[in-house]
Amino acid sequence: MRKITFSLLLVGATMIAKPYTQEDRIKDMQTMANAMQNIQNGFFYNNFDMIKLGGVTVAETIEKIEPPLSEKEEKDAMARIMNARVSMTNKIKHKVKRNMERMIDEFADGDKVGALTNFMNVTRQCMNCHKKLRKW
Ligand code: HEC
Repeated sequence: MRKITFSLLLVGATMIAKPYTQEDRIKDMQTMANAMQNIQNGFFYNNFDMIKLGGVTVAETIEKIEPPLSEKEEKDAMARIMNARVSMTNKIKHKVKRNMERMIDEFADGDKVGALTNFMNVTRQCMNCHKKLRKW
């Protein structure tokens, strides 16, 4: 099981880089929000396929996310803030992917409570970034 999950997750990482726009970000955010809802339904309906598909979608999509960097042109102080955002985003991406892999593996192994904990951790990571970048 672990092997299958892993090879699916790698697909997202090999995508070719092109400028990441706000439009791209909003689209990816909506994809993730839908996938998170599907995962939640997967828990309620006890449906592994929903959880797996949703988990892979979130893990692949978060890989593409970049923070808004409209301040790019500005000088030193802004550059520092920017770097902090990039590093925060990278950390969150890493955690989200790991949580989604674990969620899928744990659900498959019958550890539903563990799987749910990983799901909730991802929700927390989503909100964490929104709070910091969006003041939501
Ligand atoms: C690295 C920071 C970051 C992370 C992590 C993040 N978001 Fe977002 N999210 C944003 C930003 C920034 C916006 C605003 C989009 C814009 O205007 O560019 C946004 C907007 C959204 C929106 C509104 C999109 C719209 O239609 O306007 C949704 C829904 C959303 N995020 C869901 C999620 C979910 C679900 C997750 C976790 C799986 C998540 N986000 C993780 C930064 C993040």
